[in-house]
Formats: sequence, C-alpha cells, structure tokens
Amino acid sequence: MALAMKQDFPALAQMVNGHAVAYLDSAASAQKPQYVIDAMNRVMTEHYSNVHRGVYTFGAKTTVAFESARKKIAQFLNAATEKEIVFTRNATEAINLVAASFGQSLKAGDEIILTELEHHANIVPWYFLKEQTGVVLKVVPIRADRSLDMAAFKKLLGPKTKLVAVTQMSNALGTVVPVAEIAAKAHAVGAKVLVDGSQAVVHLDVDVQKIGCDFYVFTGHKLYGPSGIGVLYGRYEVLNGMPPYQGGGEMIEQVSFDKITFKEPPYRFEAGTPAIVEAIGLGAAIDYMNGLDKKAVHAHERALLQEAEKRLAAIPGVTIFSTAPERAAILSFAIDKVHPHDVATVFDQLGIAVRAGHHCAQPLMKVLGVAATIRASFAVYNTLADVERLAEGVHKVKKLFS
Ligand code: ALA
Repeated sequence: MALAMKQDFPALAQMVNGHAVAYLDSAASAQKPQYVIDAMNRVMTEHYSNVHRGVYTFGAKTTVAFESARKKIAQFLNAATEKEIVFTRNATEAINLVAASFGQSLKAGDEIILTELEHHANIVPWYFLKEQTGVVLKVVPIRADRSLDMAAFKKLLGPKTKLVAVTQMSNALGTVVPVAEIAAKAHAVGAKVLVDGSQAVVHLDVDVQKIGCDFYVFTGHKLYGPSGIGVLYGRYEVLNGMPPYQGGGEMIEQVSFDKITFKEPPYRFEAGTPAIVEAIGLGAAIDYMNGLDKKAVHAHERALLQEAEKRLAAIPGVTIFSTAPERAAILSFAIDKVHPHDVATVFDQLGIAVRAGHHCAQPLMKVLGVAATIRASFAVYNTLADVERLAEGVHKVKKLFS
C-alpha cells in the first residue's frame, strides 16, 4: 500500500460549513479508515458473539478475531508475548490500572517521578495514590526550549524512586522524550518505568523491548482505531506479580463465597465482557498501519509539520510553543490578542478543525505561562493543502480581530 490517501478516510470527504474539512485535531482523536469501519461491521454482521465463553461457531470465530487483535498489538509493540497485552478502555484506564494494582506495592515516602509534560491521565491517578498511601510525587521540569530537563531528572532519581511515569511524546507540544535513556537510568536505581505512548505510538517507531520499559500504555482512537479500547503492555513478570484491578467474570479461576483464585495475565486484568468489536477494530487499524510504508509516513508528517512551522513563524504576532529540538506532528501556538477559543471558532467557520484549550495539561500550560494554546496536529491523511488552509486561517483571524 502506498502512502495513505485522504480517500481512505470517509469522514474527510465531508464539507464543513461550506469548505472541505481540514482535520488538524488527530492528537485528540484520529479519523477512521474504511478498512477499520469494514472490519468492525463484519464482526457485527457476520459472527458477533461474546468471547471466551460460547462453544458455538460464532463464539469461536469472534474469540479468534479478538485474540488475534491481541497478537497484532503484541507484534506492533514488539512485546515478548501477547500475554503482556491487557485490553483496557483507553490509556487513562491503563494508567489507573497500574496505579491501583502496582500501586499497592508502594508505601508512604516511596517516590514516583512524573514530568511537566504529562497530561492529566498521567497525573491524576498518581495523585489519587499519593492521597491514599502517602507516596511522594516528584516532577521533572522542562527546559526553555521545551525539551525535558534530563539533568534535573537524574538529580531526582534516587533510592526512594519506585516508579517513573513519563510520556514518550507530549500531546500539547509534540516534544519527544528519550524514554529508553530514562528507563535505563530508572532501572539502575531499581525503579519501574511506565511510558505513556498515546501520541508516540502513532508517529514514532515503538519497540517496548528496546525502550526497556515495564509498562507502556496507549489508546486505540488516536491510532486510527475506535474509541473505547486501549492497551496496557506490561512486562510479564511485573504483570504476574500484580493483584487484580477490577473483579468480575473471566478474570477468575475459581469462585466461592470464601475463596477466589485469579487467572494469569492478561486475563486477570480483564474483568467482564471486553470491548470486543473495538478490540478487533484496533487490530484492523494496526493492519492498516502495517500496510503503509512507515518511513514514508513519518517523513510525510515531518514535512507537514516543518512547512506549517515555517508558514506560521513568518506571520507577525504568532507565538509558537512547540519548539523542542526533538518533536513530532504537533504545532502549538497562539495569536497575539486573540483567545485560542476564538481562533478555533473562526477556524471552524473555515472548515478547519483544531483543538484550543489546555489540552488536558494544565500544569504544562502554567509552565508556558498561558491558559491555553491552539494546537494543530498532523496525521497520515493530512496534506500540504491543509497546511495552506491553516496559514490562511491565521491570516483571516488576524484581519478579523485587528
Ligand atoms: N489527550 C487528548 C488530546 O490531547 C484528548 O487532545
């Protein structure tokens, strides 16, 4: 398959407010290719049933499709085995799972290192844990260029560090974080490492064994798959040492009112009927991604970002916040004297979809000294014409508010 074309994504054929849509909000949620829509439709129209339960033909077919999605995800991340792949509702639930389960091994005074780049999903669950257990949260600052301050990270690491929970790519700035280096340094002091790959998995080559992390989380809907499905990768021996997260059907071996025993990972962490169609849809999204020339996709996204940065940097009154030397797919900016929400509203009238706000990263906005930014994010289906529309949109906003 050649580089993905907009035509693979039916929603992008729409007109919005009289304009062809320029969808530049894939960091919030990506559009879906027809391939994924068809795969999900097929399950529901041809053999839908619950999984791991029915011995009848529909049950067997759906279970095979569901488990084959797990295998595809394991291969996609280069996990050692599909037993390391736990289906969750999204990345947020995957982090909550680790906080609630692995978190039980932590005690008051143990330290968890986060960074100023984290979005709320990688802050709030650890805050809960702090309230419950008295663990201490330490935060790695960013540098003036918006890269992570690795010198500060090394200073925060110590014998009390039990976990480092860090994004691989900031959702608000696109900053790419050297997670393999972080994992090596954290392991040297005996700490575990959780990497939030919600953005990175879409735009970078991810290999959990090369990174050397203990946990890696991502969500399906940003990877051209459906919403309602996410992934927790956990190194098997780490997962196997963790207690269950939620209780219910399919995560148990034996149940009586006096004693309950639990299955091995990943099933121990998958209570109740899972998101069956969505998991299969995520498997299809990975098939779709695997069908593309990854190098060409990454080069395409890089070219779009560079061109957009060049175009916007040349417009007086535009401030660009996404300036880290290592960055991908995200352009975060502001226009002097115009509130980001007003910019996004005018953009919508022009058929341009961007996110304006704090991007679920309020601590980061505080560091940047702003309440909000405008974020244009690029994906496989964007084109230079979308970049052109973005730049024209900025000129129109400036004229309107001058
Ligand atoms: N975390 C998502 C975003 O960056 C929702 O917009």
